[in-house]
Amino acid sequence: MSDIKVIGVVGAGTMGNGIAHVFALAGYEVVLIDVEEDALEQGMSTIEKNLARQVKKEKISGEEKEAALGAIRTGTDLEDLRNVDFVIEAAVEDEQVKFEIFRRLDKITRNEITLASNTSSISITEIAAQTQRPEKVIGMHFMNPVPVMKLVEVIKGLATNEWTTETVIKLANELGKTPVQVQDYPGFISNRILMPMINEAIFCLMEGVSSKKAIDEVMKLGMGHPMGPLELADFIGLDVCLSIMKVLHNGLGEDKYRPCPLLRKMVSSGRLGRKTGQGFYDYSD
Ligand SMILES: NC(=O)c1ccc[n+]([C@@H]2O[C@H](COP(=O)([O-])OP(=O)(O)OC[C@H]3O[C@@H](n4cnc5c(N)ncnc54)[C@H](O)[C@@H]3O)[C@@H](O)[C@H]2O)c1
Repeated sequence: MSDIKVIGVVGAGTMGNGIAHVFALAGYEVVLIDVEEDALEQGMSTIEKNLARQVKKEKISGEEKEAALGAIRTGTDLEDLRNVDFVIEAAVEDEQVKFEIFRRLDKITRNEITLASNTSSISITEIAAQTQRPEKVIGMHFMNPVPVMKLVEVIKGLATNEWTTETVIKLANELGKTPVQVQDYPGFISNRILMPMINEAIFCLMEGVSSKKAIDEVMKLGMGHPMGPLELADFIGLDVCLSIMKVLHNGLGEDKYRPCPLLRKMVSSGRLGRKTGQGFYDYSD
């Protein structure tokens, strides 16, 4: 997009740093914001590591890596997004946190720019309703790990207009991704289907149907999945999985979306998966 040069990314965690990575590599300037200094440092170090891996695999050159790193600025104040041309929010999957971020972004950024959310499940229509520009609010749902996965789910809220949708589709194409349009219903397509499968795998573990390794093995060897559902849950983050199940349960109102008690227990104990070193599996080394 010739008129979009500077991208604001809110949240420097698993997804935010991946999103900053792909935009910077595609030639955009990026302003990466997080409330935690530590998250910014960690995020930048992850981007550095992932770019280095791409150099090693000869996917990009050393110069491209340096240019991408040089294109990312960081900060802890949303006000730093005053002059950006597009914002994508990838903060925690918490409705109230996102609502507050969008209310502030609406005041801080120029009226004409698009505000996108990377939410996995929260209603785009409700996020958009926090702003005075609901027609310019949209879901741009990247998959994890962002530099590798091709899909971007593009979610239109009730008020999202065609111009906004086209803007996001073009941006996704420029990043080398494949955009797929879906309507705004809980979990969209990806998590409406994926998360109940992960939740059911956790029920199988809780009920002692089999061991965690066996459950993952069945899905890998039997169904051709590259990762088993429990490994994948650890990779996504168990807190993110629980938040999505709650959105599905509340939004669709059926018992089949009830979050597994073992998932709740893991999250309460702080075992959130890879990011904390412990989930269904141990990552402490
Ligand atoms: N993890 C996945 O596999 C995945 C995949 C697709 C989409 N998502 C979605 O992406 C979003 C981020 O998920 P994640 O896995 O990166 O989470 P994460 O926990 O790794 O990172 C979230 C970051 O947001 C920051 N944050 C919290 N409140 C903030 C605020 N008010 N302003 C700025 N930053 C704030 C936190 O400090 C943290 O660094 C969520 O909406 C999630 O549902 C996650």
